[in-house]
Amino acid sequence: MQTLTTAKELRATVARWRAMGEAIAFVPTMGNLHEGHLRLVDVARERVGRVVVSIFVNPMQFGEGEDFASYPRTLAEDSAKLAARGADLLFAPEVAEVYPGGTGSLTRVEVPELSDILCGAFRSGHFTGVATVVVKLLNLVQPDVALFGEKDFQQLAVIRRVVLDLNIPVEIVGVPTVRAPDGLAMSSRNGYLTVQERQVAPTLYQSLQEAAQRVLEGGQNYTAVEADTIERLRRAGFRPEYVSVRRTADLKAPTAADRDLVILGAAWLGNARLIDNLTVHR
Ligand code: PAF
Repeated sequence: MQTLTTAKELRATVARWRAMGEAIAFVPTMGNLHEGHLRLVDVARERVGRVVVSIFVNPMQFGEGEDFASYPRTLAEDSAKLAARGADLLFAPEVAEVYPGGTGSLTRVEVPELSDILCGAFRSGHFTGVATVVVKLLNLVQPDVALFGEKDFQQLAVIRRVVLDLNIPVEIVGVPTVRAPDGLAMSSRNGYLTVQERQVAPTLYQSLQEAAQRVLEGGQNYTAVEADTIERLRRAGFRPEYVSVRRTADLKAPTAADRDLVILGAAWLGNARLIDNLTVHR
């Protein structure tokens, strides 16, 4: 696996592969890789010839007071994991390489409606930062396929919308969440949990499963399901931000006719902000 840090080298390498008729898969990450990221690499390898992974902690998607400075940066370990998993190229640029015009008053990608709800209501500007950097990375790598985890369900919805609206010629593939044996979704932020909190953390997934069961059994009083789930999380020691039943297509509130639903939740446990979701087909 080669590691590159500049756009120029990246473009030259990708152009060489293309000239050889090889297709490119791309897995964008912020590093501190766990099994969830590595599953994206596996799926990418099954699909096409060359796999490019980026590691870039994107300043634009962190709000004031969030964990940009302390976000775990573990490039040497990440690089070893990617090489062992068969990635072809690691792109690990500096901020100035991705933001050549600076991070101040730059051109940005706004996705109305999808960005201000759910996590976006609690993390102002976050999805604009994600959408902008993903467009930048897609322009740098120019892959045929790009893969994202379904754990970040709203992020995936935002990215699909950006690619559709801006006619970006890439196939977006969502990959199911990888979980620990006790159900906790893999996340770099799980590392912020204390030993005791780690034991409590699977309650988030369990309560979403219980909520899903109620919806499957015909419960259409989603407000009650959401409120009970939030209460259950609170009793377990979480500080919930939201639990919400939405339709999968556009993350809007479901009508009685909607069959494809997703239950999403975000809650703080100690210093970790955990998110998870579960799709339900009624
Ligand atoms: O999911 C992530 O790790 C990030 O939001 C992404 C997609 C790499 C953009 O910085």
